[in-house]
Amino acid sequence: MSGTIRAGVMGWPIAHSRSPALHGHWLERHGIDGSYVAIPVRPEDLAAALRELPDKEFAGVNLTVPHKEPALDIVDTVDGVAARIGAVNTVIVRADRTLFGTNTDSYGFIENLRGGVGRDLSAWTAHPAAVLGAGGAARAVVVALCDAGVTELRIVNRTRTNAERLAELVSSCGARAVIVDWQDRAEALRGAGILVNTTTLGMQGAPPLDLVLDALPGEALVNDIVYAPLETTLLATARRRGNPVVDGLGMLLYQAQAGFEAWFGVRPEVDDDLRAAVLAADL
Ligand code: ATR
Repeated sequence: MSGTIRAGVMGWPIAHSRSPALHGHWLERHGIDGSYVAIPVRPEDLAAALRELPDKEFAGVNLTVPHKEPALDIVDTVDGVAARIGAVNTVIVRADRTLFGTNTDSYGFIENLRGGVGRDLSAWTAHPAAVLGAGGAARAVVVALCDAGVTELRIVNRTRTNAERLAELVSSCGARAVIVDWQDRAEALRGAGILVNTTTLGMQGAPPLDLVLDALPGEALVNDIVYAPLETTLLATARRRGNPVVDGLGMLLYQAQAGFEAWFGVRPEVDDDLRAAVLAADL
């Protein structure tokens, strides 16, 4: 590859992605001759778009909705974490033009929590974790919590079959999965050390998350992976009752580090300047 190093993010739709602002900030900060662009790719065109990357002299791409799961069967090699999550969010074009897929969402999730509390999570991971939702994002969250040492995961989801599928992932990493019906969600918080919302509820344009926090211990760490708005009702309510809270933006920032390093050759920092640049991005 010669000249400008190219990378980007594929999604459908993609116009509101904050990833170009994120990587653009790092490219500028490090004075790298590189570009990172939003690439609209229809679901039916994903395989062709990925296959074209070497010819287009791309170093790789991030993948977002709805491409993460289908990409698993398109790339040439995936690592263990992508296989466990069942999704690829980072594709790296290797020197031999093959495509390597990994998933940095688990890392992004746990680093965001660590960054939010000053690194050591053991006071929280020693207790059960309550995870709301059982979609793609929940898979990355559950893998991260298991790997961080949580031994009981309570899966609270509207559709039981989806919760059951997620429970298999929990069991496969050696933790205990407890499925809680959606209408019993307030009770799932009793004795929990960590509460994470991975549903779309509370996101701009989505219905609110209706959850009574009375049973949640006052020391429990509360995280919402929704970051638009940054301060969701869940976080605001938890903050008011004194719980430590971590917003969802950091997961996006930390998950981006590994791709940037692989493509552009520099390990970038997650700091307040980056947060401000990403929040200020005109979408
Ligand atoms: P992602 O990949 O971002 O996790 P997803 O796979 O569509 O997105 O998952 C969305 C999650 O939000 C699911 O857990 C979904 O619950 P179901 O498994 O029952 O579909 C949850 N969710 C979405 N809308 C919801 C609602 N109105 N009430 C309760 N849960 C909801």
